[in-house]
Amino acid sequence: MSTPLKIFSIVGARPNLPKIAPLMREMQRHSNIEAVLVHTGQHYDERLSEVFFRQMGIPAPHINLEVGSGSHAVQTAEILKRIEPHLIEQNPALVLVVGDVNSTIAASLAAAKLGIAVAHVEAGLRSFDRSMPEEINRILTDALADYLFVTEEDAVDNLLREGRPRDAIHFVGNVMIDSLRMFLPLAQNSSIGQELELKTGDHWRRFAILTLHRPSNVDSPEQLEQILAGIEPIVKELPVIFPVHPRTQPKLAAASIVPHTNLRILPPLGYLDFLCLLSRATLVLTDSGGIQEETTALGVPCLTVRENTERPITILCGTNQLVGTDPQKIVAAAQEILAGKGKAGKMPQFWDGHAAQRVVEILLRFLPSENRVR
Ligand code: UD1
Repeated sequence: MSTPLKIFSIVGARPNLPKIAPLMREMQRHSNIEAVLVHTGQHYDERLSEVFFRQMGIPAPHINLEVGSGSHAVQTAEILKRIEPHLIEQNPALVLVVGDVNSTIAASLAAAKLGIAVAHVEAGLRSFDRSMPEEINRILTDALADYLFVTEEDAVDNLLREGRPRDAIHFVGNVMIDSLRMFLPLAQNSSIGQELELKTGDHWRRFAILTLHRPSNVDSPEQLEQILAGIEPIVKELPVIFPVHPRTQPKLAAASIVPHTNLRILPPLGYLDFLCLLSRATLVLTDSGGIQEETTALGVPCLTVRENTERPITILCGTNQLVGTDPQKIVAAAQEILAGKGKAGKMPQFWDGHAAQRVVEILLRFLPSENRVR
């Protein structure tokens, strides 16, 4: 029997987890793949990490690098330093990374320097805003990756423009939407609706969801205050559920705002509770990347509190609208949605629940024959 193909899959931060879950599941179905899960420890809180492993049935990581928090340089450097010995010792055929967090670029760089092939899932997305740390991570990861798996057509053009070879680019769809489709029925059993008094019997009242964690929106308490004060007219109209990211928490505490009672400030939610709420929301206000896609897949109107998006398909085809941080624009767009005039949107191509299957089929087709020695 031939030796199985050893693939290191990397997770670090919360948004990686719904992307890696279907990939691990798919790889584990193939006896000719040895799927090794590496957690960098970038996110370590129970609420940002362990609850997702439990709910999505992600296997316990085989390797935990426990890097924890730090500046971008420290976090990236620690991952580089701590992953290298494992890569040398185990010599995987491939390192598979997802998304755009510090763990993504750090693991890719360590692997590429050792001549180990890299696959990037969610390649080619560009906000064209290099003040975002994620944009730097995306560009550099794509420059290093041998396999570029993309979620939308625009990403193909971006990669070609950056000189990446056509035959390295594979339009496979969206693995995060694989998770959404798989877990949506289970999420409907969540009791979060009753706990937050949004649901009585089978009836859901109207409510909105707010998430904010981008450095540009939350790192200065004044900016955060301006957004929260600006959306007050929306908050007065319906409950706004605001699960607060650990990055935002201290800034919120420092901000001198007295929130309206309708603004319901909560700790970060688990995947199933959050998905349940997302699927039932009248309106979502966010600066997250992933939530722009999840709302498009759910057909729920989304207002993105940023000046740009690296996910244009959610605007072209989905329910997303860019509103920036100008409170007047945010409120005007929200009122349109509350008046029932939100975008209808449709499902982007290949967001069909089978993206992970396509990724693994492609890897199995190409990898064994390569035996990459560079
Ligand atoms: C990271 C990602 C971002 C992603 C976000 C989602 C990068 C550059 N950014 O941003 O793309 O959208 O995750 O969650 O990789 N902290 C905790 N507990 C934890 C993790 C972090 O308290 O488990 C605190 C840290 O101490 C730090 C802050 O949260 O002060 C930010 O964490 P960090 O991982 O640096 O970046 P995020 O803002 O979470």
